[in-house]
Amino acid sequence: MPKPGSSPESIDNSPDKGRISRRVLLGTGWCGFLLSIVGPALANIRFLFPNVVYEGPTLLKVGRPEDYASGTITFLDEQRLFIMRDPEGLRALSAICTHLRCTTGPFMPPTAEWKEDHSRCPCHGSIFAKDGRVLQGPAPRPLEFYRVSLAPDGRLVVDTAAVVDKGDVLKV
Ligand code: FES
Repeated sequence: MPKPGSSPESIDNSPDKGRISRRVLLGTGWCGFLLSIVGPALANIRFLFPNVVYEGPTLLKVGRPEDYASGTITFLDEQRLFIMRDPEGLRALSAICTHLRCTTGPFMPPTAEWKEDHSRCPCHGSIFAKDGRVLQGPAPRPLEFYRVSLAPDGRLVVDTAAVVDKGDVLKV
């Protein structure tokens, strides 16, 4: 029944009024189907290109032997290293905690609790001795010693890719 005042031509009484056409329904279905295939396919292709973490150089120049007095442990915060010098020579000890790789703190003198010089990791409280031993966890492994050598220009080079035994000393 037309409303009063409306023209009879503007009234749509067709049975399809308000229905979605078959073409639109099929198109939407295909789009959804293609998206469900393309998404995982792109994820699989992305999987072929793993994230790469670019680490810094492994050869670190850390000054000259005369920069380190005998009987000292020098904390190189930026390089995350300890340079130790004793009458035997020079060693480089990693300051990277073996728990979750925080930088451990500088060595502190013995206390009532720890009878030797020790370094504390600020993250979860691991404590290490001068020879890298774990005095208190959760660190699972000792700190690593790295190879120290003398470059032709007389400067010390620490190779953080070369883990050595704690007895590996550069005699200078
Ligand atoms: S990172 Fe050093 S104790 Fe956890």
